[in-house]
Amino acid sequence: MSEDFKDKVVLVTGAGSGIGREAARLYAARGAQVFGADLNEAGLVETEALIRSAGWSIDTRRTDVSRETDVKVLIDHVQQSAGRLDIAFNNAGITGGTHRIEEYPVEEFDRVIAVNLRSVFLGMKHEIPAMLRAGGGVIVNTASVAALTGPGGMSAYAASKHGVHGLTRVAAMENAARGIRVNALAPGWTETPMVVANSAQNPAFAELARTAIPAKRGGQPQELAEAALWLSSNASSYLFGQMLVVDGGMTI
Ligand code: NAI
Repeated sequence: MSEDFKDKVVLVTGAGSGIGREAARLYAARGAQVFGADLNEAGLVETEALIRSAGWSIDTRRTDVSRETDVKVLIDHVQQSAGRLDIAFNNAGITGGTHRIEEYPVEEFDRVIAVNLRSVFLGMKHEIPAMLRAGGGVIVNTASVAALTGPGGMSAYAASKHGVHGLTRVAAMENAARGIRVNALAPGWTETPMVVANSAQNPAFAELARTAIPAKRGGQPQELAEAALWLSSNASSYLFGQMLVVDGGMTI
């Protein structure tokens, strides 16, 4: 097993499920000291069990990434435990329901923006000073193909992910000369609990999505996690402020 993240201190949010869980597992497998955060404690327990059963380790912490106090406590905890922070994968997210704009409940709109976009701002606000103290670092933010398109019914989600793309570019611009690289990952239709639950509610939508993917299948969490690891590795050392679309060709 390659150890390209040996001794790197890595924080993954949304580590209790899907892409985040898989990224946490791969970072641990490749030698990193991994911290996993999620609102879902049961999910974190499962992630921890998966990683420990393979002989690696992870430190998990229940965190609501939309709350500044939670995010600050999380990053303070990483710094106190590990002495620094090298890599942050700001990945937690929710889709919200599907409603036309005029029917979209305002509270739900605000919640999706808070969990998907405010969280990335809060994460970077506290991660950047920690990385500067460590002499540099790498940040990967999870956007979506919805950062490039306008999926009907998903105004909050699309707006939040367009926002993640914009924040990523600003953060990359502000930090390129300070030793911190920032990029975004844009997954397409990926078979995680998020999508499986939505597909169960709306099988026709799931079928439509599959026919719209040139690869004729959804992505697997590991395929997205591998892309996140690449974005945070030295192999992408000259990549700044970009959004890597990993979608089976859906947006070609
Ligand atoms: P998932 O639902 O399997 O995992 C998301 C995790 O985020 C869950 O464990 C959930 O508990 C956590 N989370 C939700 N709200 C939180 C909060 N307030 N604080 C902390 N953790 C919270 O979904 P998946 O697919 O792994 O999603 C990961 C990221 O990928 C999300 O940002 C999502 O928007 C994005 N994405 C996923 C796609 C897909 O097809 N699965 C497509 C495009 C983007």
